[in-house]
Amino acid sequence: MRIDQESIEHDNIAGLSRRDFVKFCSTLAVGMGLPVGMGAQIAEAVTVQKRPPVLWLSAQECTGCTETLLRTSHPTLEKLILELISLEYHETLLVGAGRQAEDWREKSMKENKGKYILVVDGSIPTKDNGIYCKIGGKTALALLGEMAADAAAVIAIGSCASWGGVPSADPNPTGATPAHEVLKSRGIKTPVVNIPGCPPNPYNFLSTVLYFVTFKKLPELDDQSRPKFAYGRLIHENCERRPHFDAGRFAIQFGDEGHRKGYCLYKLGCKGPETFANCPIQLFNDVGSGAWPVGTGHPCFGCSEKGVGFTLPLHSPARPKYVTPPSIFPGIEAHKSGGASIAAAAVVAGLAGAALGAGAVTVKKLGEKEEGRKGTEE
Ligand code: SF4
Ligand code: SF4
Ligand code: F3S
Repeated sequence: MRIDQESIEHDNIAGLSRRDFVKFCSTLAVGMGLPVGMGAQIAEAVTVQKRPPVLWLSAQECTGCTETLLRTSHPTLEKLILELISLEYHETLLVGAGRQAEDWREKSMKENKGKYILVVDGSIPTKDNGIYCKIGGKTALALLGEMAADAAAVIAIGSCASWGGVPSADPNPTGATPAHEVLKSRGIKTPVVNIPGCPPNPYNFLSTVLYFVTFKKLPELDDQSRPKFAYGRLIHENCERRPHFDAGRFAIQFGDEGHRKGYCLYKLGCKGPETFANCPIQLFNDVGSGAWPVGTGHPCFGCSEKGVGFTLPLHSPARPKYVTPPSIFPGIEAHKSGGASIAAAAVVAGLAGAALGAGAVTVKKLGEKEEGRKGTEE
């Protein structure tokens, strides 16, 4: 598993020319809200320094979080990840097994004490002293405490590790608990960053690691310990279907005219209005535009948001946050109060002085179009 530092040739990094590698780092820098020029600094940091040792602990998980790192296409992200970090221990990817693997983990922890990054995927079963998940005879609960205590930072990757995810769904038979809560209850103060998602976008993981390596600190986090660069905005704010939401054009059923035309999926249960993530911008699997759930025609179910994904019914309507649709359009609830509310919206729009006439005409036209769109909007 270990790749010698020499294997990173400075003119060919993970199959990319140095120029393309700097370009790639610049893209990651922009994704993190840094100036584009920082790309060169990141590229320099990760190729000149000793690669950061990473130990990966898998608890109650489905291996999807690992797969998401390995199943990317262009530019071979898994190669970048495996060549830019020194992955010391990872149950699924290790060549060794059994005692050999555990011995290596202990040796690596000792040699890299205080310097390694601990990545955790999966939630930690805490019921009955954690007996529901054991690795090499030790519970994941004990291993997390042991491995996190000597780490420089902990990255909880995926919704299971960040807030419990699938294993914590009601009735949570194993007492599945997120990594940060376990560490807090044990008084372990190693900083934790959560990268939720099921699975999360691998670029958000890679960006966080590269930021840490370059600047020797974690990126700015929100109140749920998520990197702000990736989770600072609602999906709804960047969704390509947002103009349809604002105009009141919705798919009502899968396969109906509105669905085929790419209208907003709010009425099919899209949780984009209450889910913070960069899915519409960062996209998945390097296959181009539209490569994210809503882009393919499926409502976002809020997999990255605590209290939304795996908690709310799949097709229940979202509870929109910060929605400020233009007042010249009928509101999303307009159909409930009929023409009166559309007339009221026209009056509100009209209060903007000279815009009165134009606003009323626009609403009237929308009202006329409503007639022709039966079955696709409400
Ligand atoms: Fe699997 Fe999703 Fe949990 Fe990752 S977050 S381990 S993909 S269930
Ligand atoms: Fe996009 Fe969903 Fe918001 Fe509609 S409700 S605009 S589909 S995020
Ligand atoms: Fe998950 Fe919604 Fe993004 S389902 S992958 S948070 S679009």
